[in-house]
Amino acid sequence: MDAKLLFQDAAGFATPMLAVFAVDIATANDAEPLPALLSTSDAVTDAAEKVMASGEFKAGLGETLLLHAPNGLKAERLLLVGMGKAKSLSVDEVRKAGGAAVRAAKPRGLRQIAIVFPEDHALSDEHLDELPCMLMSRALIEGASLADPDYDTYKSDRKDTALQTLSILAKETEKSTRAEIQQGFDEGLIVAAAQNFTRSLVNEPGNVLTPTVLGQRAAAMCAEMGLKCEVFSTEKLHELKMGAFWAVAQGSAEPPALIVMTYEPKLEKGKSPVKDAPVMGLVGKGITFDTGGISIKPADGMEKMKYDMAGAAAMIGAMRAIAQLKPKVKVISVICSAENMPDGKSFKPGDVVTAMSGKTIEIVNTDAEGRLVLADGLHYAKTLGCTHLIDAATLTGACVVALGMLNAGLFSNNEEACERFQNSLKTSGEKFWRLPCTDDYREQINSQIADIRNTGGTRWGGAITAALFLKEFVGDTPWVHLDIAGCAWNEEVKPAIAKGPTGIAVRSILEWVRSYSA
Ligand code: BES
Ligand code: ZN
Ligand code: ZN
Repeated sequence: MDAKLLFQDAAGFATPMLAVFAVDIATANDAEPLPALLSTSDAVTDAAEKVMASGEFKAGLGETLLLHAPNGLKAERLLLVGMGKAKSLSVDEVRKAGGAAVRAAKPRGLRQIAIVFPEDHALSDEHLDELPCMLMSRALIEGASLADPDYDTYKSDRKDTALQTLSILAKETEKSTRAEIQQGFDEGLIVAAAQNFTRSLVNEPGNVLTPTVLGQRAAAMCAEMGLKCEVFSTEKLHELKMGAFWAVAQGSAEPPALIVMTYEPKLEKGKSPVKDAPVMGLVGKGITFDTGGISIKPADGMEKMKYDMAGAAAMIGAMRAIAQLKPKVKVISVICSAENMPDGKSFKPGDVVTAMSGKTIEIVNTDAEGRLVLADGLHYAKTLGCTHLIDAATLTGACVVALGMLNAGLFSNNEEACERFQNSLKTSGEKFWRLPCTDDYREQINSQIADIRNTGGTRWGGAITAALFLKEFVGDTPWVHLDIAGCAWNEEVKPAIAKGPTGIAVRSILEWVRSYSA
């Protein structure tokens, strides 16, 4: 997609479809909707005047209405897109409305569209403090870019409906400067491309995207973006004594991949490296298919377990954006990728394995494999010098039971690191809900035979006992754990995004890392 930001008049712009946003400015909660266009162009407001007055269009979030041959405009069609209530407008609504504009073009076969940058005259001042135009601009292009892909990748009669050109038509005002709109647009394009890259990885079936191929895709991305990347396999796992990671990998015909990507900020001229500067460690669960192993999963829905590498893909996507946005902080990403298979060589319930840290683990359930690969990944990241850790994993079904599919799980052993993450959600617009990770749950993972066992024994609080298992391997290092099992895959097409991989966590991880930039 060729995306352009143009400071140009919307009325005179020739395009198959021009989208313009509207908000509902009714203030009382039970009042009739009062839609107002976010455009100051007389020609655009005139063209929409009749339908705006008709009451047919209520400016609800994601609501659209299409007019053909709009009077006084060069555009062939005018699309009204609702952003919902003005008083509750946030970056997330802007992102969704941007997405809805693009999704409306798809069934109509329109591949070149233009969007009027939302002009803020209908919004109150206090609103605009919350919603600076830089963020508005970023969210708009993110939403539009994330709405573009469809995941019917392997259909023989697949029609390419991807946008060819997207033009954002903006107007500079006192509050919305050209520089800020441009900066938001540039950042948004980078972030959305990274998230779409993550989604393209998560979309791949397990027979295509093996651990080896995941390593190749990560290496190719790093080569393109100027990041250092090393991809190791079985030998290195043995050399590092990664007994927990290897236990999961040993039953598969596909060799595991340990992927290490490094971003090093450029030193400014004449400056020496800062002593004790933080080093961010991004660790991802990369199970390219999770059958459950010997503790095999039921057949129903097992095909979904191809997305059990969404945590790894999120980290790879975040690294892609980091390479382009260049925060002043070192970042190392460790991806632990394997396939969890039943086999004569598989690990078994009752086995005791030794993790890289030296801790012994009693295996109770081979389907609790994510925490095993992450245990070694987190410990290894520490030995590489990481001072702050974050992991992302489709870790537990219990987290989906607890939070459903709208919020992902957030756990931490450190208030500051956690607060920074929660702050990053304001920019990312993603939803994470903090769950406890306190030591009173620790006894549930006591083992009689070893230092620790890999499940809590009961289903109750399963997301928490999984987090506590990981906590054993991070020690005092500030750490944030993201359980994205419920949010990595969209079961239904939504107004602003296709069915399939979501790319959850990329944006929040990126903002969290940037918050440590010197
Ligand atoms: N990959 C699954 C978790 C999962 C569930 C991801 C649903 C996406 C959607 C994980 O490896 C797993 O199987 N966890 C078990 C742990 C249990 C055996 C303690 C679970 O959640 O049932
Ligand atoms: Zn599993
Ligand atoms: Zn799994």
